[in-house]
Amino acid sequence: MKIFLATGNINKIEEISKILENMDIKNIEILSVKDNISIPHILEDGKTFEENSIKKAVEIANFLNIPTIADDSGLSVEALNGAPGVYSARYAGEYANDSDNNKKLVKELSGILNRNAKFICVITLGNPDGSYHSFRGEVSGEIIDDPRGINGFGYDPYFYLKEFGKTMAEIAPDEKNAISHRSKALEQLKRNIYKIFEKN
Ligand code: IMP
Repeated sequence: MKIFLATGNINKIEEISKILENMDIKNIEILSVKDNISIPHILEDGKTFEENSIKKAVEIANFLNIPTIADDSGLSVEALNGAPGVYSARYAGEYANDSDNNKKLVKELSGILNRNAKFICVITLGNPDGSYHSFRGEVSGEIIDDPRGINGFGYDPYFYLKEFGKTMAEIAPDEKNAISHRSKALEQLKRNIYKIFEKN
């Protein structure tokens, strides 16, 4: 059984493939753009992580005619009413990079004491016929003003995990994969994957 992993973000392909490998899902081969499969660009115009991940998974499953996993993820900051949310990748503008987005985040939070934040990930397994199953994972932390650590990507150096006394960019990749929003969502997918395929 082949499943396509629909993300062009190499960091995410590495993280998700590693997590799935560690879960030891039998008889399922994970394909991605690394296998030279090209996929159309899907406009992420949903208002929720669910809407975006369902849209990507179902449209690409339909295009390739194989079940497809897609994720939508981002940072949700309590004091900013959930921002940057679904706009996490382009918080500082359409062509913003991680550094621009992080600068904007710190600026928006200046003078604000409540630094509670969550990383959220919604993973969807979509089928060519339009059916799908979605799973949500979250991890809580606090936003700090100065970056720490070089691992991970995106907002990781500013996302402080109380239980580790470190940021998401300071813990080892394997530690991140054990606690991350992405691994929590994938864990649920794993628990349900055989049930899902039995029904199809
Ligand atoms: P997506 O590719 O539309 O899901 O955008 C996700 C954006 O959210 C990324 O570009 C990052 O800015 C942020 N993000 C998602 N997951 C993580 C993570 O694990 N660490 C740091 N930033 C993340």
